Amino acid sequence: MPSALILGASRGIGLEFARQYLAAGWTVHATHRSEPDRLKLRDLGAHTLKLDVLDPGELAGVAWQLDGERLDVVVVNAGVYGPRTSNLQKPPTDEEFKLVMRTNVLAPMRFIPIVGPLLAPARGTLAILSSRMGSISEAGASYGMLYRVSKAAENMVAKLAHAELSPTGVRVLALHPGWVRTDMGGPNADVAVEDSVAGMRRVIGDPMAWPGGSFLDYRGQSLAW
Ligand SMILES: NC(=O)c1ccc[n+]([C@@H]2O[C@H](COP(=O)([O-])OP(=O)(O)OC[C@H]3O[C@@H](n4cnc5c(N)ncnc54)[C@H](OP(=O)(O)O)[C@@H]3O)[C@@H](O)[C@H]2O)c1
Repeated sequence: MPSALILGASRGIGLEFARQYLAAGWTVHATHRSEPDRLKLRDLGAHTLKLDVLDPGELAGVAWQLDGERLDVVVVNAGVYGPRTSNLQKPPTDEEFKLVMRTNVLAPMRFIPIVGPLLAPARGTLAILSSRMGSISEAGASYGMLYRVSKAAENMVAKLAHAELSPTGVRVLALHPGWVRTDMGGPNADVAVEDSVAGMRRVIGDPMAWPGGSFLDYRGQSLAW
C-alpha cells in the first residue's frame, strides 16, 4: 500500500490531501497542532503526528517517529499568508516577517534532510505547496508582499531540493494549487479544494508526464519561476 506524509493536514488543502489519499487506500501520516485536529484525522483513518513546524523539538520527534518508513509522497503544505497588504507602503514588522518566513521557508528547509531519505527507496515525490504569487517572472502587482517574497524563497528551496535529491531518485515539484476556497484563499476563490487536490494528485502521480524540478499548477500547466 503506498504511503503519504502530509505536513499541515488539519484543514484546507492539507486536510483534503489526507482525505483523498485515504479514500484511495493509501497509508497517510498526517500532522496537526491541536487535539481536536488529531481526533479528526485519526477518525478519518490517518496516522497522526503532532507537529508545529516552528518547533525544532517536535520536528525532531516526527523525524524519530518516521525513521525507517518508506514514503511515496510527501506534501509540504503548512503555510501562512501574513499581513494582507495592498502595496509596499507598510512593510512587515519583525514579528510578521519571522512568522511567515519561518513557516514558509525555514520549515521546508528543515524538512528536506528528514524526508529525502524516506522518499528515496520508493523513488517518491516531494511536493512543495508554493504559489503563483511566488513567481518572480510573473510578479506584476505589489499586494501580499511578504507572502510573495516567502513563496519565491520557498521556490528556491524546491529547486535546490531537486538538485540534491534527484540523483537519489526523488522527484521534487513546486505546486500552485490555484486560488482555492480555504481559510487562506477565502470564500471568493475560484477553485474548490476537492478539484485542486484531485488535480495535484494527478500531477504528483505521473512522473513521466511531469518530471521533477518543475513549477506547475494544479492542472499540470507549467509556471515561470
Ligand atoms: N488557498 C489558496 O488559494 C492557496 C493558493 C496558493 C498557495 N497556497 C498554499 O497552499 C498551502 C495550504 O493553504 P490553505 O489554503 O490550505 O491554507 P489554510 O486553510 O490557511 O491552512 C493552513 C494549514 O497550515 C497549517 N499551519 C500553519 N502554520 C503552521 C505551523 N506553524 N505548524 C504546523 N502547521 C501549520 C495550518 O494548521 P493549523 O490548523 O494548526 O493552523 C493548516 O493546516 C499553503 O502553503 C499556501 O501558501 C494556497
